[in-house]
Amino acid sequence: MSDNPKWLNNAVFYEIYPQSFMDTDCDGVGNINGITEKLDYIKDLGCNAIWLNPCFESPFGDAGYDVSDYCRVAARYGTNDDLINLFNEAHRRDMHVILDLVPGHTSWEHPWFKESMKAERNQFTDRYVWTDSIWEEPTGYGSLRGISDRDGSCAVNFFTHQPALNYGFYKPTRPWQQSVDSQGAIATREAMKDVMKFWLSRGCDGFRVDMAGSLVKNDEDSKGTITLWQNMTDFVRKEFPEAVLVSEWGEPDKSLQGGFHMDFLLHFGPSHYNDLFRCENPYFDGKGTAADFVEKYIDSYEKSERKGLICIPTGNHDMDRLARHIHGDNKKLAFAFLLTMPGAPYIYYGDEIGMNYVEGLTSVEGGYGRTGSRSPMQWDNSINAGFSAAPSEKLYIPIDPSEDRPTVQSQLNDKNSLRSEVKKLISIRQAHKALQSKGEIEFITKGEEGKPLSYIRKTEGEQILISVNPTDKPCEFKIDSRVKEVIYSLGDGAVIKEGSIVIRECSAVFAIL
Ligand code: BGC
Repeated sequence: MSDNPKWLNNAVFYEIYPQSFMDTDCDGVGNINGITEKLDYIKDLGCNAIWLNPCFESPFGDAGYDVSDYCRVAARYGTNDDLINLFNEAHRRDMHVILDLVPGHTSWEHPWFKESMKAERNQFTDRYVWTDSIWEEPTGYGSLRGISDRDGSCAVNFFTHQPALNYGFYKPTRPWQQSVDSQGAIATREAMKDVMKFWLSRGCDGFRVDMAGSLVKNDEDSKGTITLWQNMTDFVRKEFPEAVLVSEWGEPDKSLQGGFHMDFLLHFGPSHYNDLFRCENPYFDGKGTAADFVEKYIDSYEKSERKGLICIPTGNHDMDRLARHIHGDNKKLAFAFLLTMPGAPYIYYGDEIGMNYVEGLTSVEGGYGRTGSRSPMQWDNSINAGFSAAPSEKLYIPIDPSEDRPTVQSQLNDKNSLRSEVKKLISIRQAHKALQSKGEIEFITKGEEGKPLSYIRKTEGEQILISVNPTDKPCEFKIDSRVKEVIYSLGDGAVIKEGSIVIRECSAVFAIL
């Protein structure tokens, strides 16, 4: 895809898990109107875009990633009109909303799948990946078998109740494996375009695309999946040039070729993201190393033509809360890094106040270990932390029971709070183009154990040095350019010398060069 829609260049996203953000109809589950009510809160933080996790009809075996109607908001969240109202209210505030598109699979309750299960041939027979005998497994990743009169096994993509949609096989090797240009595969692709069109024409600003790299099967180098996305993203570019597509793929060299505007850095696979935030000794807790992360980041950056369109999230609904591993003011240092990297930053709801991972919960809606990161937003100290007026036993997930749980109310007017620091960091990002999505990056120090992580962000006419030192030792490093002005300092900051900088322990500094 050629140029980004302009709004993406300075977008700072806020990810909302709709179940847990704000409940205005007192059923214990968050809803769309609750999100609309809190738009000013999000805007005040400085975020100008929202990624909304799936909010469509679903049996909720995977929290809505098992869609049973792509074009209808689930009743528990409200109506399509409520969602359209959210788009309008966001636009009125100069904000954008992207939805979560799940193109790889549906729920087994989707009407397409019910038709597809039938023995008689019909319009949906080839909508999913089926073998031609129940005794043959489709892709080696599990299957649905013996569930209807149709003699075949259906491939699944994630949980057993999520049958895989058919976009074809890059290299078919069995008679039942359809090619990428078979009628069935093309019909699926066109049906997914219709879904995109449905929401884009109602005011939605784009999509975060779930498991985007997994659509075409037997596609080792992703060539078939890239071609498929080129077709889909071309359609979006032509019909909705301001719409944004961000992939959950984790390989920017591939996803950007496919036409995505940006790609997520994933917490699984080779990214080393977890080295920074989520491992036994995470770098930002002052103990481990960021060096492998930096190496891999540079590798992806170079492979994607230094476009820097890699989004690094503070967390998300699939991983541990940032605060589970990063303690005290080190969280501020983590944000200083996250909010000065290229690509669009994504703040997972509640991370801006340091919400905790709630330990020991029973799984809710296929969350399993992820459930503790999906607990209700903590607004204030009133009943259910201000999330819902429902009886607490009716809440979607229990509120963090800790007495000292953070709340928005307690942090809003405290200038030393994490939320205030996050707000300050976003405003600095917004004031300097070099710090935004497209500014280039060059690493100066790679955050080896005991060392700071330092880099220069650049655009035409502006160069900003960022140095973040979460370790307990000061560190001196060389720089070629002269520091003109320090624009941000955290902790004891840095001592600027001629040709070098000493960054103090547990400190960060941003300086114009
Ligand atoms: C989503 C998960 C979901 C899975 C299956 C992911 O990557 O983020 O929450 O369970 O896709 O759709």
